[in-house]
Amino acid sequence: MLGNATTAQRTGFFGGVYMSTVAVIGAQWGDEGKGKVVDYLAERARFVVRYQGGNNAGHTLVVNGEKTILHLVPSGILADDVTNVIGDGTVIDPWVLVGELEGLEARGAMRPPESGQLVIGRRAAIVAPYHVAMDKAREQRLGKGKIGTTGRGIGPAYEDVAARRAIRVADLLDRERLSDRLDRVLEEKNALLAWLGAETFDKDDLIERLTAVGARLKPWVDDAGKRVRQAIADDLDVVFEGAQGAMLDVVHGTYPYVTSSHTTTGGIASGSGTHPRQLKAVVGVVKAYTTRVGAGPFPTELHDSFGDSLREKGQEFGSTTGRPRRCGWLDLSQLRYAHQLNGFTSLALTKLDVLTGLESIEVCVGYSVDGERWDIIPTDSDLMERAEPITVKLAGWTEDVRDARSYEELPANAKTYIDLVQRELGVPVGLISVGPGRSETIRHQDLWATG
Ligand code: GDP
Ligand code: IMO
Ligand code: MG
Repeated sequence: MLGNATTAQRTGFFGGVYMSTVAVIGAQWGDEGKGKVVDYLAERARFVVRYQGGNNAGHTLVVNGEKTILHLVPSGILADDVTNVIGDGTVIDPWVLVGELEGLEARGAMRPPESGQLVIGRRAAIVAPYHVAMDKAREQRLGKGKIGTTGRGIGPAYEDVAARRAIRVADLLDRERLSDRLDRVLEEKNALLAWLGAETFDKDDLIERLTAVGARLKPWVDDAGKRVRQAIADDLDVVFEGAQGAMLDVVHGTYPYVTSSHTTTGGIASGSGTHPRQLKAVVGVVKAYTTRVGAGPFPTELHDSFGDSLREKGQEFGSTTGRPRRCGWLDLSQLRYAHQLNGFTSLALTKLDVLTGLESIEVCVGYSVDGERWDIIPTDSDLMERAEPITVKLAGWTEDVRDARSYEELPANAKTYIDLVQRELGVPVGLISVGPGRSETIRHQDLWATG
């Protein structure tokens, strides 16, 4: 466990910087290493807030050789003295959350509910069993045209939020209200599920199961928005933990091959109950190459045995579904777009160690679309189909970087690679990750700095 920052240091003047808020945002298609970066920032933070997505996320922490994969619980859970908030803009599968908490409890990682280690937002919507059934049935029906969702019911749950018929966490704590909510939705759900050839659900059975799981979560349920606003008012350091990545944003990503929430910084205020001016710093997490799980355009994808070797070396298999991740070169024009959407104040470059041993490394610097040069990735699906990546080749390095703990210790060609990224994006690389472990990290610049 960490604990080297005293409360006095954390609440006031820390390393020359006053209290701050920082967002951790996936700059690509997810799985960039956000969990590791949040765990690193949790050394200083007093609050870590998840504000969108659900258990489609899989965030990995490796501490003292022990691996923890989190789906709903924020990545500050292994740090001392941190309040972890599952915010009002998330969608919560309550049984998955209970399972996750039980796993953490069994390992002695959970403190009693009164400790304030975890807050579950009263307004967060529930992912109900009918959402999971619908997600799977729709994907099956789409066949070859499927999105390749995680099958966790995320899309159908967010549909109900927008349609004002979601069951929210607070509803689980009041049997009568829950019954009323189910009356409003279940008939329609069952009709649709029957049409899709999927299982249907019994109201009384759902009430029993949902109230039972609600009772289990009750000790942590609170007004999440109020708690986050209070933390900011009290000058506590807050990390906003993004899930998925910029290119999976429901509006600005590679639609329709996206998730169903706002994954960019724009989603933070509404998802956490704060306002945009309260966000001070934004860390874009960038994997040193690119991966994507599920279907949809991925212009720098490597379809050859080299792509397979990158997958093996980087252990690119989904943290949530175990699916092999598609692998490709770093795409600077994609990252420029992510920067435009998110306003990064610094970058965390992860998995640099995976590139060790390559003779050369390619980087996409732009696109040619019908003979015209594009510096920013075209996300319109028609343009994307015709876009040809323009790449440059850099020399690789053979020296092992996993033991490096400063930028200076890195091989010259690795430094050239990092410098190219920061120069092309105009954003400093504040953190370099050279292995999955918490300690396998190079602090290059302060990620809390407001840029
Ligand atoms: P997230 O969803 O963005 O939190 O990322 P995931 O946890 O899904 O995937 C990142 C994977 O890479 C996890 O297995 C991490 O343990 C691992 N990882 C993170 N940083 C590094 C790194 O610098 N080097 C290596 N080799 N693995 C890393
Ligand atoms: P983290 O937070 C990578 C992808 C799915 C699919 C699309 C829609 O670990 O980075 P959904 O189940 O959300 O409706 O699926 O989004 N996807 C992710 N890919 N990392 C994730 O989360 C993802 N969450 C969803 O593979 O392509
Ligand atoms: Mg992940």
